[in-house]
Amino acid sequence: MIKAGFDLLCADTSTDIVVLAGDTTRDGELASHAEFIEMLRDLKKRGKRVYVITATHDYRDGGVADGYDGDKKIQVPAVEERHDLWQMYYEFGPNEAIATHPDSMSYVVQLAPGYRLFALNDDTNYKPEGESGSGYSDDCMAWILDQLEDARKNDQFVIAMTHHPMIAPSPFYAIIGKGDMQRNHETTREIFADNGLQCMLTGHTHIHDISVVETKKGNTFYDIACGAMIGCPPTMRNITLDPAHAKVDVETVTITDVPAGHRRQAF
Ligand SMILES: [Fe+2]
Repeated sequence: MIKAGFDLLCADTSTDIVVLAGDTTRDGELASHAEFIEMLRDLKKRGKRVYVITATHDYRDGGVADGYDGDKKIQVPAVEERHDLWQMYYEFGPNEAIATHPDSMSYVVQLAPGYRLFALNDDTNYKPEGESGSGYSDDCMAWILDQLEDARKNDQFVIAMTHHPMIAPSPFYAIIGKGDMQRNHETTREIFADNGLQCMLTGHTHIHDISVVETKKGNTFYDIACGAMIGCPPTMRNITLDPAHAKVDVETVTITDVPAGHRRQAF
């Protein structure tokens, strides 16, 4: 299904840029990363610009994950040290960044004149006492705010991506998925929106949703959550930045057909 999705991306000549907001593998398996990186390189060979952040499913404490030899479950090597991912995916964003925060593995790229992408990795191991989950360290937040100030001074529109949700994609998720929300999301989204970051692309939940909140100062913050290419239905987002009308158009692309050549077994 992922290969079918990549075929759609390759065939779409109107799409210049592909962004991916983390969890490129199941549990950080080295073989899965190697295969996926080759698929991303193929996209670049087709002329796409590709920007990636990684997330919590892309490494595994202990460096071992479950794999399969036929039907038999086996142990396979996985990425153990999360910082190794910065080098592994360096060619997909960090290499052309105008600013980086290597500790969190976040970066900023210039998408086009007047448009910047903030690629914000929230898989941090930084967990203040008594707190758990994803989010940004104090140092990373300070860096993001510096970057937002620079964007403001230079009259740049900012679109961002991170992995974990900043607005619950459904009221139900707010209850059952509370621990999956980004840590401090209510405070962080308020700070972001009031400093010029109002459009965040997220992943993780596999739920396709656009939600909006208004800050106390009256600014809006959008969480554009994208369902997964391995979800049901398998989805992608197609986003058009439209400076002439000061608009961000978002549409859904559904992978409706998986060619036989991409099937590992009949189903
Ligand atoms: Fe995730």
